Amino acid sequence: MRSLSRRHFLEDASKTGIALGANLAFGGHIFGQSPAANAGQPIRIYADSRRTLAPIHPEVFGSFLEHLGRAIYEGIYDPQSKLSDANGFRKDVLEEIKKLGVPLIRYPGGNFVSGYNWLDGIGPKASRPAVLDKAWNSINSNEFGTDEFLAWCRLVGTEPLLGLNLGTGTAEQAAALVEYCNLEKGTRWSDLRRKNGISEPYKVQKWCLGNEMDGPWQIGHMTAAEYGLKAADAARQMRYADPSLKLVACGSSGPGMPTYLEWDREVLEQCYDYVDAISLHRYFTNAEETGGDSSKFLAMNLSMERQIDEVAAVCDMVRGHKRSPKKLWLSFDEWNVWYRARSGDAMNGHRQSAPHLLEEVYNLEDALLVGGLINSLIRKAERVQLACLAQLVNVIAPIMTNPNGLLRQTIYYPYSWALEFARGSALELLVESSTYDVPGMGAVSYVDAAGTYQADTGKIALFLLNRDLAKPHQVEIVWEGSSPRAGDARVLTGSDLKATNTFEAPSRVVPQKAEKASGTPSRSSFELPPRSYTVVEWSL
Ligand code: AHR
Repeated sequence: MRSLSRRHFLEDASKTGIALGANLAFGGHIFGQSPAANAGQPIRIYADSRRTLAPIHPEVFGSFLEHLGRAIYEGIYDPQSKLSDANGFRKDVLEEIKKLGVPLIRYPGGNFVSGYNWLDGIGPKASRPAVLDKAWNSINSNEFGTDEFLAWCRLVGTEPLLGLNLGTGTAEQAAALVEYCNLEKGTRWSDLRRKNGISEPYKVQKWCLGNEMDGPWQIGHMTAAEYGLKAADAARQMRYADPSLKLVACGSSGPGMPTYLEWDREVLEQCYDYVDAISLHRYFTNAEETGGDSSKFLAMNLSMERQIDEVAAVCDMVRGHKRSPKKLWLSFDEWNVWYRARSGDAMNGHRQSAPHLLEEVYNLEDALLVGGLINSLIRKAERVQLACLAQLVNVIAPIMTNPNGLLRQTIYYPYSWALEFARGSALELLVESSTYDVPGMGAVSYVDAAGTYQADTGKIALFLLNRDLAKPHQVEIVWEGSSPRAGDARVLTGSDLKATNTFEAPSRVVPQKAEKASGTPSRSSFELPPRSYTVVEWSL
C-alpha cells in the first residue's frame, strides 16, 4: 500500500466530515422537514419549456480510458482476439461505444499520464519499448499510443480529450505533442507524424494540463504554486503551436484533500490567464462517506453539486483578483462510484501487461447514484461544460469485456439515458418533494429531478431518482406555458440494492418499460417505484 493513497484521503474526509453537508434543497424546493409530516403527499414538479437554466454541452457526458488494467489492452485493443479488426480494435466494444454515442473520451490518464513519454507510443510498433508504468506498476508494451487512440476515436465518432504529462514531462514535451497532433507540416514534430503515415493533422482541441498534481500519490507531485507556474508555461508554449486550444488546469482531486480549494486558488493565481477551465474529480463510496447507509449514499449527488459550487466560487474569486473578463468553466473529468476494487493502490507485484485492476462490480444502488450524479450535472450545466464518467471499459467501467463478448454493468443504463435523452437545455424545475433526514446532511428530497428540453425537436426528458428505499412515490407533473404529450418512460429498479449483472446473468438489473403518465395534458402523474431511476419523455 502506498503511504498516501487516494483511499487515505477519502478516509480522512469521512473523519472530518469534509464535503458531506450539501446544499440539500437542491433538486427542488422542499416542504416539511420530517418524513412523518409529509409522508404520502404527492410529489409535484412544475415544468415550463421556456424556463431553462443553460445549454447542455454534449461533452458533459464524456468518458475516460486510461492505460490502466484492462481498459486499453484487452478492452478496446486486443490484436489476439477473434473479435478484433485488422487494427487490433475490439469490434464489439467499438460498436457499443459508437452506438452509445459517447461524445468525448479522455486519454491516456489519469495517474498513468504523469510518467508517460508519448514518444514511446508512436512510430513502428516493433521499435516501441515495453515500459514499466510506475503509476500502476504495470507493463505497457506501447503497442497502443497516441496515433492508435486518435484513429480509434475517429472510428467511434468521439472527440479526444488528451492528457499531458506535467509530472515527469516538461512544458516543451507537452508543446511538442500539440505540434505532433495539430500542425500540418514543416516542423520537427508535425513532420514526424507525417513520417509515421498520418498526413492530415488531428486538430485535437481539448487538453488536460496534467492529472491530480495535488496528490502525494501522483508521479511528479508538486506544490500548487509550482504546478501553476508549470501549467502556465506549458499552456503558453502549446498555444504558440496552436492558439485555438481549450486547456484544463488540474484542480483539486476532491473535497477530501487537505489542500482542497486552496490548491485551486493558488494554481489559478498562477495560470488563470492561460487556461479555459479547471478540473474536478470525485469518487463516491457507500462505505467511509456513508457508513454503508444506502439512503445517505443516494443523496451523495448533492455533495457533488456543493463541490461544483465551491470550485466555481474559487474560480470567480481569482477572476475578481485579476479583474479578468474571462469566466472559467469546469471540467468534471473524473466522476463515478468507486470503492471496492482498490487493488490498484497497492504495490502488490502485478507487474504485467493488462492486469485485472479496478474491476469494480456495480450494483443497483450504484446505478441509482450514477443517475443522481447525472441529474446534478444537468442542473449544473451552466458551469460544468465537460465531464467524464471514469472510466469506460473494464476499469471502474460500465462496459466489461471477456474473450467472448461484453457485459453492460448496472451503471451503463443511467449513463446511456443521459447520452440518449439529455440534450438541448437544462430545465429549471420546481420540485415539491417530501424529505427524509440524512445524518450530517439534514433534509433530503425523496425525489431528485432534472429535465432537458430540445427547442429544435420539441423533445423534453425528465430524469427522476426516487431515493426512498421502501416506498413508491406518486409524482404529478404540472406543465406551465404549454402542454406536451407524454411519451415512453423507462425505469431501473429492483428489490435488491446489491444486485449486479454478470457474464452468467447479464440481465439482473436492466431497464423496464414504465407506465405512461396519465391525467390531463397540463397535469399528468405516475408512480415512481421505490429505489428507482426513471426517464420520461414528452414532446411538444
Ligand atoms: O480513474 C482511476 C484513477 O483515479 C485515475 O488514474 C486518477 O486520476 C484517479 O485518482
